[in-house]
Amino acid sequence: MGCPAKIAPSMLSSDFANLASEAQRMLDCGADWLHMDIMDGHFVPNLTIGAPVIKSLRKHTKAYLDCHLMVTNPLDYVEPLGEAGASGFTFHVEISKENWQELVHRIKAKGMRPGVAVRPGTPIEEVYPLVDSENPVEMVLVMTVEPGFGGQKFMPETMDKVQKLRKKYPSLDIEVDGGLGPSTIAMAASAGANCIVAGSSVFGSPEPAQVISLMRKAVDESPKVI
Ligand code: DX5
Ligand code: ZN
Repeated sequence: MGCPAKIAPSMLSSDFANLASEAQRMLDCGADWLHMDIMDGHFVPNLTIGAPVIKSLRKHTKAYLDCHLMVTNPLDYVEPLGEAGASGFTFHVEISKENWQELVHRIKAKGMRPGVAVRPGTPIEEVYPLVDSENPVEMVLVMTVEPGFGGQKFMPETMDKVQKLRKKYPSLDIEVDGGLGPSTIAMAASAGANCIVAGSSVFGSPEPAQVISLMRKAVDESPKVI
């Protein structure tokens, strides 16, 4: 299969007071990306971090910062996040139906990689135009919990969407986020996900390196349902 595994610990579950050392700890444990959850207290009922924190972290690491924008006005975040050193910029399709073309254009112009996310209740067909576009998004994030908080239970019913996507786009980066860990990775990997976000399962483990390597193995070795 042509889609290498990207294991992305969600820094939402880290000790924010020690973000730089927590990030380095995850990279030392084998993480490929660092997943950064940006929430505005409006699109979701939680408030987390923004561009100033990304900028501070960027001074301490060269790692790929996979930013997941759970915000109502993602356009407002493109410039500051680009300047701060974000690597990926994934916005939600639910609030970007009108302006996604401009958004993708501006994300790329700031040197970031655009992605689009869908909530569990959003039909996957809504992202097709964004992937099929002449100026496409480069990743689709299928939420496997309702966005807003770490530590929720994985929703297996979202796997239909991952399977559909993988069938239609064999080489697309497909990310899953929410409730992923040793007990759920097989479902996500066999459905076709290759980018795996995991917060509580990694940070809650005494052996995060083992959890990361187990998830990587599951993605790399899983027979894909296509
Ligand atoms: C939830 C966030 C996730 C969250 C995942 O809205 O998008 O990235 O941190 O945490 P776990 O892996 O604990 O479900
Ligand atoms: Zn996330």
